[in-house]
Amino acid sequence: MDFLVRKFEDRDAARVSEIMYESFKTVFKEMWEKEEKGNGDYWKEHAHAESPTSIITSYVAEQADGTVIGFLNIEANLQRKLGILHSIGVDPNIFAKGVGKAMVAEAEKLWKKHRMRKVYTCTSHINQRAFAFYKSLGFEQEGLLKSHFFDGIDEIQLGKFYKYDD
Ligand SMILES: CC(C)(COP(=O)(O)OP(=O)(O)OC[C@H]1O[C@@H](n2cnc3c(N)ncnc32)[C@H](O)[C@@H]1OP(=O)(O)O)[C@@H](O)C(=O)NCCC(=O)NCCS
Repeated sequence: MDFLVRKFEDRDAARVSEIMYESFKTVFKEMWEKEEKGNGDYWKEHAHAESPTSIITSYVAEQADGTVIGFLNIEANLQRKLGILHSIGVDPNIFAKGVGKAMVAEAEKLWKKHRMRKVYTCTSHINQRAFAFYKSLGFEQEGLLKSHFFDGIDEIQLGKFYKYDD
């Protein structure tokens, strides 16, 4: 597949909201229909933020024809040297074509540049696709949050540690 990964820009906001809605609907099915799709304003406000102790940033994957097909929002806690993968989603028509992996690879460049010790994320126990995805990227299960965002749906906490030779 021909695509590139670049930083999120405000012009991506509406499309990213759409991908977020559609990709998460594949996990939560009819439960997700109650959720607001959003017009992108949230993304314009929260995609990037920097302070002396933290970098929050977002990436998109873009096809050669300019269509955005995935998003990733991450954080680097510079004090604790802890990276956080907040949210990721790919256009469901393009699942399993390497888009998610390519976006995380871009985030890993930033995390490693800032010498993160560890990165953290979580995923719902019903989300076997995301669990397999994170495992393939080297994340290991660390804990479980019972009925966390929804009753009856647990969050699996996952972490990955980095080692540096120098
Ligand atoms: C989870 C998600 C981001 C993965 O992105 P993707 O582009 O589909 O995944 P990739 O093609 O980059 O997969 C990378 C690796 O993950 C693993 N993987 C991906 N999908 C898999 C599946 N359905 N079953 C088993 N392994 C899978 C594979 O090891 C794959 O590597 P390979 O292709 O070399 O075998 C995407 O499926 C998605 O948007 N899901 C819905 C939203 C979501 O669940 N977000 C995460 C919530 S925490």
